[in-house]
Amino acid sequence: MDSSKKIRYERPLIKPINAMMPGKTGKDTYLVPVLDVDGVPVSALVEKYGSPLFVFSERKQRENIQRAKRSFTTRYPKVHFAWSYKTNYLDGICKIFHEEGSWAEVVSGFEYDKAIRNGVSGNHIIFNGPAKTKDDLKKAITNGSFIHIDNMDELYLLSDLSDELSIKPKVAVRVNLDTEINQIWDRFGFNYENGQAWDVLCKIVRMDKFELKGLHCHIGTFILTAHAYAVAAEKMANLACNVKQKLGVNIEYLDMGGGFASKNTLKASYLGGADVCPSFDEYAEAISTAIYKAPFKTSDLPVLILETGRALIDDAACLISTVLSNKRSSSGRRFTIIDAGVNMLFTSFWYDHKVSPAQPFSKYYEDVTLYGPLCMNIDVIREFVSLPLLNRGDHLVIHNVGAYNVSQWMQFITLRPYVVQVSREGKVSVLRKRETIETIVNQESSTTDNL
Ligand SMILES: Cc1ncc(COP(=O)(O)O)c(C=O)c1O
Repeated sequence: MDSSKKIRYERPLIKPINAMMPGKTGKDTYLVPVLDVDGVPVSALVEKYGSPLFVFSERKQRENIQRAKRSFTTRYPKVHFAWSYKTNYLDGICKIFHEEGSWAEVVSGFEYDKAIRNGVSGNHIIFNGPAKTKDDLKKAITNGSFIHIDNMDELYLLSDLSDELSIKPKVAVRVNLDTEINQIWDRFGFNYENGQAWDVLCKIVRMDKFELKGLHCHIGTFILTAHAYAVAAEKMANLACNVKQKLGVNIEYLDMGGGFASKNTLKASYLGGADVCPSFDEYAEAISTAIYKAPFKTSDLPVLILETGRALIDDAACLISTVLSNKRSSSGRRFTIIDAGVNMLFTSFWYDHKVSPAQPFSKYYEDVTLYGPLCMNIDVIREFVSLPLLNRGDHLVIHNVGAYNVSQWMQFITLRPYVVQVSREGKVSVLRKRETIETIVNQESSTTDNL
């Protein structure tokens, strides 16, 4: 008998309903096989590029940024998005956002250089972060980039550079503030409530060595309530008005940072991410309404800058993976081991990524723990997920992986895989080649230095 025609046997299973059961509002466990990415069959992608494989959708990225821009520009007259490089700094990704009009938001000399190589002009680069070197700052000053001051040491360094280069650096002050939610990020910038931010603004204006252009905040990440942005925008707008009234300087822009939630589901969240995360419209409404409430003259309304990262890219990528083996735990739970681990999917520490089989399957589901291939106990992609029987060689699609993975991944035990992109026309291009052993050993060296 032709074995490919043989009907697959699945052993009968009595299944206690103990998690992920569908309820009136509870998570839905209904799965459909995902056979293609934007029309390109998963099987063809794996055949060409191997597994695991990151696949990005150009269509989705453009849709996301266009939707976000529409939400803000229909409510507020002057808006710029600045692509957050750390979220994903593959050139092929950054270029899409730049083509859609986004500036660049960078936090290191490396990211800064990448933005320049991608053709972003210096005066469209926002330089954030707590660790800018003297050389980074010199470059940014000379190129007319916007430098967001994080601390007093940086301010004094910039003051010296202003003298040395005889150029007044274009600066903004990073402000941290209480937005009435649990996340209070006071590690970066100067505090609003205790007056630190005001003190540094007074110094900057009186020192007369800088062009004070803006105020910046980034209130946290995956912020599930738009109200937090309303609180932040109100405080930032009032601060800007005070600078105008008391120090005589017009604040040209308010940069509200990133932090909008993506459609992923945070671990321990009862409802799925798509049900709980606010829309771009809700964030835009909260921010624009708060700015309008402040006593700006219409002609002085600041430009609104947004450094949105994950909400623009997370759902524009998936990770295709392959089943390596199945086994039973001592308690009887099925363990399925796949070829994509936490070394390339950092976000599985924070999210319960949705996982779909990439071939037709039977109706019998079972609670499974999905492990990666690393010889490490922490290598868990999903602690608990209901899946049909998957055999060795079957493929899975792990959804919403576009943000932070391809920048935070690490080469550990296995090599990093291909990253490809499906264009709007359905063509596939390589964004990053897979690593080979040469990629790694070429960096090793045995030279000796006399110091
Ligand atoms: C200063 C700054 N801006 C923007 C972002 C992007 O944030 P998100 O991806 O949550 O939108 C980050 C991320 O940490 C950040 O630190």
